[in-house]
Amino acid sequence: PSSPLAELGRRNALAEESGGPERRERQHREGKLSARERVLLLLDEGSFEETDKFVTHRCTDFGMGSEDKRILGDGFITGYGRIDGRIAFVFAQDFTVFGGSLSETNAAKIVKIMDTAMRVGAPIIGLNDSGGARIQEGVVSLAGYADIFLRNTLASGVVPQISAILGPCAGGAVYSPAITDFTLMVDKTSYMFVTGPDVIKTVTHEEVSKEDLGGAATHNEISGVAHFMAQDDAECLAMVRELLSFLPLNNVDDPPRRPCTDPIDRADPELDTIIPADSSQPYDIKDVIERVVDDGYFFEVHEHFARNIVVGFARMNGRPVGVVANQPAYLAGVLDNDASIKAARFVRFCDCFNIPLITFEDVPGFLPGVQQEHGGIIRNGAKLLYAFAEATVPKLTLITRKAYGGAYCVMSSKHIRTDLNLTWPTAEIAVMGAEGAVNIVYGRELAAVVEKTELVEGPLTAERRAEILAAARSRKVEEFRQQFANPYIAAERGYVDAVIQPRETRRRMIAALEMLDGKRDKNPPKKHGNIPL
Ligand code: COA
Repeated sequence: PSSPLAELGRRNALAEESGGPERRERQHREGKLSARERVLLLLDEGSFEETDKFVTHRCTDFGMGSEDKRILGDGFITGYGRIDGRIAFVFAQDFTVFGGSLSETNAAKIVKIMDTAMRVGAPIIGLNDSGGARIQEGVVSLAGYADIFLRNTLASGVVPQISAILGPCAGGAVYSPAITDFTLMVDKTSYMFVTGPDVIKTVTHEEVSKEDLGGAATHNEISGVAHFMAQDDAECLAMVRELLSFLPLNNVDDPPRRPCTDPIDRADPELDTIIPADSSQPYDIKDVIERVVDDGYFFEVHEHFARNIVVGFARMNGRPVGVVANQPAYLAGVLDNDASIKAARFVRFCDCFNIPLITFEDVPGFLPGVQQEHGGIIRNGAKLLYAFAEATVPKLTLITRKAYGGAYCVMSSKHIRTDLNLTWPTAEIAVMGAEGAVNIVYGRELAAVVEKTELVEGPLTAERRAEILAAARSRKVEEFRQQFANPYIAAERGYVDAVIQPRETRRRMIAALEMLDGKRDKNPPKKHGNIPL
């Protein structure tokens, strides 16, 4: 008989052996790390404390009762550790043990750390790489998923939840990541779908590869299911660490502040000329963001999805902020279905976790079109409006150029409780662009000009009519622009708090954030609101 210490050593070694060298080797061949390597890479060195390392499954069906089918840990690694010195809970599915499939007992391991994470108020990070429900366990495994989904839902808005997809994630399993706050995927080695290519082929006769159906590129660019795309496991785990560096541990904690060496009153003369003279010309809003935030560093979220709106994290005087910005360099920065949904979710995340919001606005309005209307732009645009209106964190808005129509109201306008609304002198705040406005308002008047000329000069050629009309229209457009396409009418009414020189944006915004440091605001008591979903 071995000594108690030797027995412990033997069991530890067995658990760490998991599915064996061959299956581990296969992971590496496929460009993936093992579950244990991932956990160790994610957490600060030497900080991992494992829980339930010796848990095994209880299934005896399908030959699962034999000793060699009972692997210590049962294919999931769970525990806690530190990320940049701050506590975090983690679970990792080990594909080398029954394909990382979910069993009754390893689901209970996850539930246990989720419950603890909720009690102590710390983030939960899931590293997914799994063939789904353990087929041999049937409904018992499905029950395990439902137990996890319930915790995901209850933890939502209480502690940050992050899902890294580092291999397969299919069927019901997708709904845990889907409820969490952020999903990261690794290019070429991960995929997510509710029903796979084979089922799709049978039901709809569509032929599609796993990659095209639910690979990292697909979910980052087309569906918006994933928020980040990494090139490999190591980069993905580094992204999780970085993401957490902007987030508080829980909803009653403040985001972590860092020392700031970038001067808070740094003026940037380049900003004075960054807006093109012709207001129909694009520019990259990320250039503006980077010139304003600490060290020019912007950590973009959902970079590849709905690129007409930009969201992400940055710091101002060392303090994390959430940035939402229309992107004039893509589709002129219009709001469409995807952009509205993307930004609404980000705004709500920041509001849950006490992260102030800065909105950079240059929006020509909502994207017109049958596809947009039938796609529910009314319902989806309302999400963003609702999210901004509901948010009680400090809110700042800067209008750099266009703020047109309903989109003006939506983009964190003064009227929906934004604390400080700034504009640059290049702002154009109006119901619509000058061309559109003139055609509608002065349609009759312009036609009359042509008729009047005809009375004086006699019958006109079509060419001449068009010429006269164009000249009259451009005079009106200029007049309209002079009169309305500026920030001063809004400023006269106090709808914007200040018209500032672009170069001083950083100083003005930091001053505003410091002023808002003690902000307390709340919504009327209710069970929960009914955001238009
Ligand atoms: N339950 C039990 N064991 C599973 C499993 C599951 N859901 N998924 C995979 N495994 C096991 C396999 O039997 C295999 O075991 P082995 O190493 O002892 O042979 C091992 O995990 C690896 O699976 P394999 O199929 O060889 O890997 P792959 O990379 O070729 O394919 C999947 C991965 C996920 C596409 C494939 O395993 C699969 O389709 N699994 C079932 C998915 C499913 O329908 N799940 C239930 C719905 S929620």
